Amino acid sequence: MAPNKFDRALVTGGAGYIGSHTTKLMSKLGIETVVYDNLSRGHRDFVKWGPLIKGDLRDTSLLKETLRWYKPDVIIHFAALSSVGESNSKPEFYYDNNVVGTLSLLHAMLDCGIKLAVMSSSCAVYGQPDHMPITENTPKNPVNPYGRSKTMMEQICVDLGNAHDLRFVTLRYFNACGGDPGCEIGERHFPELHLIPRLFMAQDGLIDALEIMGDDYPTSDGTCIRDYVHVNDLAEAHIGAARYLIGGGQADTFNLGTGHGLSVKEIIEAATNVTGKPVPYRIAPRRGGDPAILVADSNKASRILGWTPNSSGLPSILKDAWAWHNKEHFR
Ligand SMILES: NC(=O)c1ccc[n+]([C@@H]2O[C@H](COP(=O)([O-])OP(=O)(O)OC[C@H]3O[C@@H](n4cnc5c(N)ncnc54)[C@H](O)[C@@H]3O)[C@@H](O)[C@H]2O)c1
Repeated sequence: MAPNKFDRALVTGGAGYIGSHTTKLMSKLGIETVVYDNLSRGHRDFVKWGPLIKGDLRDTSLLKETLRWYKPDVIIHFAALSSVGESNSKPEFYYDNNVVGTLSLLHAMLDCGIKLAVMSSSCAVYGQPDHMPITENTPKNPVNPYGRSKTMMEQICVDLGNAHDLRFVTLRYFNACGGDPGCEIGERHFPELHLIPRLFMAQDGLIDALEIMGDDYPTSDGTCIRDYVHVNDLAEAHIGAARYLIGGGQADTFNLGTGHGLSVKEIIEAATNVTGKPVPYRIAPRRGGDPAILVADSNKASRILGWTPNSSGLPSILKDAWAWHNKEHFR
């Protein structure tokens, strides 16, 4: 990680999954955090390490007031809607929240003289590329409104960075997973659509069965292959990116994944080994727009930000997610 220090960050979406883990890690490192979140998808009890300003991204005057009061060195911008299926059925909400919301944040930054931000983006900007692993130069070709909203956000940041004295690092995450080993926070989405929490729910009878969306993909066992990265590794990357900006680093974009793909069936098998419980599953039809394989090339983040996904081994991902699942549902 770059050595450049910073004292205070405003974390939009800090009451959500990745934002709360990043906030916890920053607090451990002595960095003050202010969370700005409308709690539409986040949780008040995930904000434990600094103040929560309950507000919407599109409320530019409240954002300005917050920035003037707290004077953060950098903004870490997680706040967004991020369900692909929902974005297909309600694209207007996605563009309004993710694109108009980001634009409002940028207006507030310009107005208050805050020049640095780390932006959450996604591998969804790439769509269904032909070649793996995916580098930052792989053409962007999003296939759903969520991915397009992130692509637009990225373009807006490039244009504003060119026009004004603003610098952005954009981080494109692959599949975030795992949780805080101390179980103070974890993955909590309603509805929960992510594979690992859902398979634990199936093991414990909280849902009938895990649905595997297609087992006829051109992969070794027919199920989709994804690149799973521990949420604490993502948290570290954000702090590294903020330090890079504080140290004068140029605007840039980085993939965050492990470079190693795992199929749905491999995850199910590993989870069975960790918990000793079978995962009831059924095969459902493919979901439109799901590529067979998505794996990141994150060499650039390693080279420039000094990032390595040390916590992203599957056993530790599953152990941390399993501990959180038990706390959430059974304690
Ligand atoms: N979880 C993943 O696997 C993944 C992968 C790639 C990218 N991302 C991106 O990472 C970011 C965080 O994802 P997450 O999984 O933590 O999601 P999350 O839903 O847990 O957290 C998002 C937070 O943003 C807040 N929010 C949303 N819209 C807002 C608005 N208009 N004003 C204020 N607050 C608002 C929500 O209340 C929530 O607390 C998102 O930008 C998402 O697109 C996530």
